[in-house]
Parts: sequence; C-alpha cells; structure tokens
Amino acid sequence: MLSTNAADLLAQIRVHGAVPRHVAIIMDGNGRWARERRMPRPYGHRSGMRAVREVVEGAVEAGLEVLSLFAFSQENWQRPPAEITALMSLLEEYVAREADELHQRGVRVCALGALERLTPEASAAVARVMAQTAGNDRITLNLFVSYSARAELVRAARLLAEDAAAGRVDASAIDEAAFASRLYTASCPDPDLLIRTSGEQRISNFLLWQLAYAELFISPVLWPDFTRAELYGAIRDFQLRERRFGRVPA
Ligand code: FPP
Repeated sequence: MLSTNAADLLAQIRVHGAVPRHVAIIMDGNGRWARERRMPRPYGHRSGMRAVREVVEGAVEAGLEVLSLFAFSQENWQRPPAEITALMSLLEEYVAREADELHQRGVRVCALGALERLTPEASAAVARVMAQTAGNDRITLNLFVSYSARAELVRAARLLAEDAAAGRVDASAIDEAAFASRLYTASCPDPDLLIRTSGEQRISNFLLWQLAYAELFISPVLWPDFTRAELYGAIRDFQLRERRFGRVPA
C-alpha cells in the first residue's frame, strides 16, 4: 500500500516524465539506527533489509532501468567477525526470501564485486537468484557485495593489459568505451543519481568511474527509515535539476 505522500510524489514524477535511468544508493546509517535503540549493529542491518525491499518495489513502480545498492564493501571485511557473519546471513536470507517475488516482478538480480570472498552459502544463494532472474528485463537490481571501486578499476586495467598482451586489443586503440566494457557494470548505463543516506557526504570507494556525471542527493534519513517516499523525493529533486555534463546551459 502506497502512503499518500509516496503516491503524490509518484504522480508528480510521472507528470514530469523523465525518470533517471539508473539510481545508485549508498545505504548508510544502520549502525547508528541500532545504537539509537540500544541494540546491536546487526539489528540495524536486519531493519535495513526492510528498506531494501521497499526501495526495490518503489524503483520498479517508478520505471527505473537499473537500481544499484552498495550492500557490502571490501573495507567492510575489516568489521568485527560477528557483524560480517550477520551481514553474510542477511544477504543469503534476502535472496532466498525475495527471489520468487523479484522474479515475478521482472527484476534481474546481479551481484557485483569480489564474490569469491563470500561464504559458500551466500555465494550459492546469490548464484541461484542470478540464474533464476537472468532472463528478466523490467529492471536490473545490482547488489554490490565485497565491492571496491578502486579494485574494480585495477581489475579492468589488468583485463585490458591481458588482452593487449595476447594481441586481442591494440593498446593504442584503448579508449573509454574499451575500459568501461571491462567494468562489472559494462552492460548498464552510468548512474544518473547517487543517493547516500544518513547525512554523510562521501563516495566511499563506490563506482568511482561510473559516477563521473551523477547528481548527488544526500538524505539525512538513516537507511532503515528510508522509504519509498524518500526515494521518490530524491527522484523528484533530480528531475528539477539541470544537467550540463560540462557544457553551457541550453
Ligand atoms: C552501512 O551502515 C550499511 C552496511 C554496511 C550494510 C548494508 C546492508 C543492508 C542494508 C542489509 C542487507 C542488504 C541486502 C541487499 C541484503 P553502517 O553499518 O556503516 O552504519 P553506521 O555508519 O551508522 O555505523
């Protein structure tokens, strides 16, 4: 059931017409949300899973092509073991619980990052949902797990170097398109809009190449409290901006 606020905002978004093709979100503030309730951090992550469900539904309704969620960074492997275990279990639980519904809604799920570091259970769950939803084309849901943008850029450089050494590409012909085609996001348009929750104003090693021209929207809301209406508010704000891509106003 849509809240009145969310329904109004969605109507306004539709009147305007153009929605961002690709929205990326740094889901931040789970730990603080839990601390405010004197609860352990994993409680915040579990509550954050509800917001993930709501935002995915909202993105489908709004007609986005791609939704990218930063679920777990490579730096997050340095968190306490209990928190890492909780996050891996949540990932496993999320895909196991939501897979059928995501599939029915036409969502194609892609997990992107150094997936070889995931627990075998999380890795298997992710592989299953990716295979199940591979043929869907209503929206792509990118789940960035064990992800670092710098590592992704180094990986792309390594792949290009290997192709050049093997004679598959001519080094002097390497251009931006050749580089982008070696990124995890090769098949996706760049994000038009980056949302970060919890008021923090950082990119935190997320999609450093792809965010070159993204509009930034910083929400003060902690991730577990982020609703569909918040997503629609950010999209509405985006629609009111003038994007110039380094050019002068039209
Ligand atoms: C950042 O909050 C959030 C994370 C590191 C994990 C995000 C995970 C989820 C939203 C739940 C699972 C998601 C999926 C897709 C299954 P933080 O812990 O850094 O918060 P803090 O800055 O307040 O400490």
